[in-house]
Amino acid sequence: MASSEDIKQLLVVGAGQMGAGIAQVGVQSGLSVTLVDLSKELLDKATQQVMAGLRKLQEKGKLDEPSRRAAGERLKVATSISQVKDVDFAVEAVSENESLKKQIFKELDGAVRAGGVLASNTSSIPITRIGTATRRPDAVIGMHFMNPVPVMSLVEIIRGAATSEATYASTRALAERMGKTTVVSRDFPGFIVNRILIPMLNEACFALMEGLASAQDIDTAMKLGTNQPMGPLQLADFIGLDTVLSIAEVLHRGLGDDKYRPCPLLKQYVDAGWLGKKSGRGFYPY
Ligand code: CAA
Repeated sequence: MASSEDIKQLLVVGAGQMGAGIAQVGVQSGLSVTLVDLSKELLDKATQQVMAGLRKLQEKGKLDEPSRRAAGERLKVATSISQVKDVDFAVEAVSENESLKKQIFKELDGAVRAGGVLASNTSSIPITRIGTATRRPDAVIGMHFMNPVPVMSLVEIIRGAATSEATYASTRALAERMGKTTVVSRDFPGFIVNRILIPMLNEACFALMEGLASAQDIDTAMKLGTNQPMGPLQLADFIGLDTVLSIAEVLHRGLGDDKYRPCPLLKQYVDAGWLGKKSGRGFYPY
């Protein structure tokens, strides 16, 4: 098993909710983190999110004042990958757009040192395909964090066709250093979590569309009846209905089975711009 001691510099590309969460767990575990995004506004928002997360940990007595301050100081931001050189490990967490991800991985080739790792937080794009954009597909791997990153203890690791054993060992060691439990998946649509979760959320949409029960009753039934922290419709709103639909489409296309067909009601909500919590309306108002 590789040690995570060799990993000191972490690059996180994409300063959305996931990127900010990954940056937070990175600085918490002692790494120097550079968070890159084209948008200065997103970088400011992400920095505030990280600092608020660290303060929350201090309030709960999990971090003392000097450690919180030091963790905050380990976070740097930049507006271009070209400003970063020789990092040990990079995690890309931009939106689920394959050509954008490939462009970023091409740039990561120049930013990550020889022997380093180029990871993607993708929830649905094949790691094997992302790897072809680089000169070193053996160093490319999936490192799929769950939302909210600082709270959720799982990291799903996805090995592409060319991913090396050393890349896998480093990724697992880093995830464990971040306090996460890892599982490993082969590179097939949805990996483990979304292969099973998204059909459940999609089925809840069908149940609502068919008038089986109200949204509240579907959620209460699954929350209390199967001990889940959120009901499926509430969780879909939390993930973002556009994201749920896009993963459902990946499963449908990639596995070629109509049992994965996205629910028309889900499509209609996305068409209406009702994307869940982030847009102020989904199955529920926010
Ligand atoms: N940093 C550190 N700690 C934080 C934090 C942060 N940024 N944000 C929250 N916390 C802590 C809180 O302080 C709180 O701690 P205590 O329990 O010790 O007080 C704890 O985390 C829970 O936070 P809240 O009290 O704010 O929230 P909650 O109890 O209502 O739980 C939830 C919220 C964790 C989101 C819970 O409802 C839940 O687990 N929901 C399901 C989430 C889920 O399934 N996520 C996976 C989605 S699928 C995915 O991500 C994959 C994909 O590709 C789509």
